[in-house]
Amino acid sequence: MNRILKLQSALLRVIEEQEGKVEERDQSLDWERVHMASCARLGFLMAEEKGQDPELAACACSVHDFGRILTGKQKGHAEKGYHPVKDFLDKLELFTKEEIEIISLAVKNHSRKSKIGSWIEEIVKDADVVDCYQYGIPFVRDAQQMRYEEYIKRNQPEEEE
Ligand SMILES: [Fe+2]
Repeated sequence: MNRILKLQSALLRVIEEQEGKVEERDQSLDWERVHMASCARLGFLMAEEKGQDPELAACACSVHDFGRILTGKQKGHAEKGYHPVKDFLDKLELFTKEEIEIISLAVKNHSRKSKIGSWIEEIVKDADVVDCYQYGIPFVRDAQQMRYEEYIKRNQPEEEE
């Protein structure tokens, strides 16, 4: 077995611990549970298509909203997730220092939807918007809508002449 399930099990425990801690959450804890697993699956497939590491991509997708899971708030959640997710990954002892930095940076930068980042950041951002679209979660920022449209355009089969 690879490390995705181990990471997600540990994350489910963190999510469980948040029950009742924040009075009003911008997203429910059930959404956090569903979204992390669903994004991970999308990210895994996207990485396979790009010839990148699918396990690492799925792991980054799983934890990308770590900041919002802890604070309950959407605002600034990507940046706020950076240090806590690093600690979380450190304690798991599943990843090398280098992998932890790659994942944590993808967490930190995933809200920059109009910017182009590292391959793994791009996958996290694409998986995030595709998953929100799948569940009918409205895009609140133009950059999210644009990223979704770009993704669909890129993945459309070529028209036959
Ligand atoms: Fe997300």
